[in-house]
Amino acid sequence: MTGDLRFSSQRAHGWGPGSGSSPEARLRQRLPTLDDVEHQARRRIPRFAFDFLEGGTGGDLNTRRNREALDAVELVPRYSSPAPVQTEIELFGVRCAAPIGISPVGVDGIVWPGATRMLASAAGKARIPYIAGTLATAEIEEVAELAGPYAWFQLYGLPADDHAVTFDLIKRAGGSGVRVLAATLDAPVRSKRPRDLRNGLVVPFRPTPKTILDVALSPAWLLALATAGTPAFRNVERYVEKPATLANTAGFVQSQIKGTFSWETVRRMRDAWPGALVVKGVMHPDDAEQAISLGVDGILVSNHGGRQFDAAPAAIDVLPAIVARVGSRATILFDSGIRSGLDIARAVALGARGTFAGRALLLGLGALGERGAAYVAELLKEELETAMGQLGAHSLDALTQLTCRHQRAFDFCLTVRDAAGDGR
Ligand SMILES: Cc1cc2nc3c(=O)[nH]c(=O)nc-3n(C[C@H](O)[C@H](O)[C@H](O)COP(=O)(O)O)c2cc1C
Repeated sequence: MTGDLRFSSQRAHGWGPGSGSSPEARLRQRLPTLDDVEHQARRRIPRFAFDFLEGGTGGDLNTRRNREALDAVELVPRYSSPAPVQTEIELFGVRCAAPIGISPVGVDGIVWPGATRMLASAAGKARIPYIAGTLATAEIEEVAELAGPYAWFQLYGLPADDHAVTFDLIKRAGGSGVRVLAATLDAPVRSKRPRDLRNGLVVPFRPTPKTILDVALSPAWLLALATAGTPAFRNVERYVEKPATLANTAGFVQSQIKGTFSWETVRRMRDAWPGALVVKGVMHPDDAEQAISLGVDGILVSNHGGRQFDAAPAAIDVLPAIVARVGSRATILFDSGIRSGLDIARAVALGARGTFAGRALLLGLGALGERGAAYVAELLKEELETAMGQLGAHSLDALTQLTCRHQRAFDFCLTVRDAAGDGR
């Protein structure tokens, strides 16, 4: 066995020369998986903020379905001559360390104060893309400075005045050097998130004795809050009527921001944006087709991490049909449910060129503070390397050649109307 212990991942997992009693090695032993990171984060983040991050919509069915579906994807190992594993990938002209990026998480500063800046600098250092949100807690200009070529920008629509603010945000992103714009399509209505309602996490936010107690019991979070300041919707503050207090800005966000775009607006964005344009939240091959006809460069297959619609399929279950339809006409990206390097291997094997995770990276911040994002990014990369080594797939391309069993893959052939013939 020793002859095969040549991957960096094996060092990280305590097999090789990297294991020992250094603080880093002890951390690897204490938090070897994302489940351990999550467990630690749960103890350090106030309950309402943890629920905000973890919760899905309705009964959390879609969030659970994402997980179960990823777990059910089987990959068959092949044997080949041992060789170093290569995880680097080029996405829209930028060479990235691995096919893993950070999904946008609005108001991430609730989960961990200062999160947007921390994620941006972790992405820049780890050389992985970070899609900063319209509702991020630092401005896109600052994110672009910290993440450099790895900064992407997620856009929600602000339709008032013929999308004047939407197009100003696009201009600002371009002006600060961002090359990839991801327009979110999949939140056309405000979804019902019972955990947030029960915790009183609504606009306007009024702390209850319970939330105050939650915060008091979370000293590390409080310290982060004292350092970073109260989380605010920094990207949109300048558009809010003065004074742009948190309450006014939250009201503006609530009333002005729409979580989707018409296809006509996507077309206008295509005309206005010279960089790569991605649509986020695609779950049907016909929608992918429509987006491609408007000239988008990337399709991010996603169900918003199960936060929008409980009856939606797992995102991984619709991925193969979308890959099959799109072929090489656009770059296929994937998120929703990624919690390990093995999950990344599964999604790449099923045709995603890049994958993203939202909750995983924020759990890292919750567990370890600022260094937690880099810790989770590295953990995912090492697990991916281990999975690839075990599968005999030394390149990302080789992953796509593997035999997979994906019994739950969604069948788009039939609608109820088709099944019933023309009698309905
Ligand atoms: C707390 C939270 C807030 C989110 N806010 C946004 C957002 O503002 N814009 C957006 O496009 N997606 C948003 N998402 C969805 C993520 O971008 C991503 O699609 C999802 O988290 C992926 O699932 P995962 O968390 O299982 O990795 C949010 C997700 C979470 C968990």
